[in-house]
Amino acid sequence: MVELKPAEVDRLVLAAIEARDQAYAPHSHFYVGAALLLSDDRIISGCNVENASYSLTICAERVAAASAISLGYRGWRGIAIASVGGAMPCGACRQFLAEFGTDLTVITTDVIDGSREVRRLTKLLPDIFDGSDIPNRA
Ligand code: THU
Repeated sequence: MVELKPAEVDRLVLAAIEARDQAYAPHSHFYVGAALLLSDDRIISGCNVENASYSLTICAERVAAASAISLGYRGWRGIAIASVGGAMPCGACRQFLAEFGTDLTVITTDVIDGSREVRRLTKLLPDIFDGSDIPNRA
């Protein structure tokens, strides 16, 4: 299990809070920022991007993860998620993150009171569906 140091958690939470400033959420007004800590200690962040169709909305966690992948980073150690109330990642985001490994620290933070909760992705999404469930895959 990969543990994050307190200073790493601080840095990651700050990055998620900053990423939240870019959130495009004119429909829900629920602004979310996410920041991934890569295995080389870089941070890649994202924010939620809503759409008038609603269903095309992309969560902050998936924006951060897709951004990391597109920049060539597939190994990450932690993710911080910042919102009012310290919301948990949705089920779709849990599955999306799990594609790249479940040994991930998930930190949620409430931007109002600064409180944080730390969990493991394996706890948030036990018994995952992954590539090993697909028979005859190449
Ligand atoms: N949202 C996220 O960005 N991450 C989550 O894990 C849950 C929900 C966003 C999507 C939408 O823009 C807004 O929060 C309300 O659902």
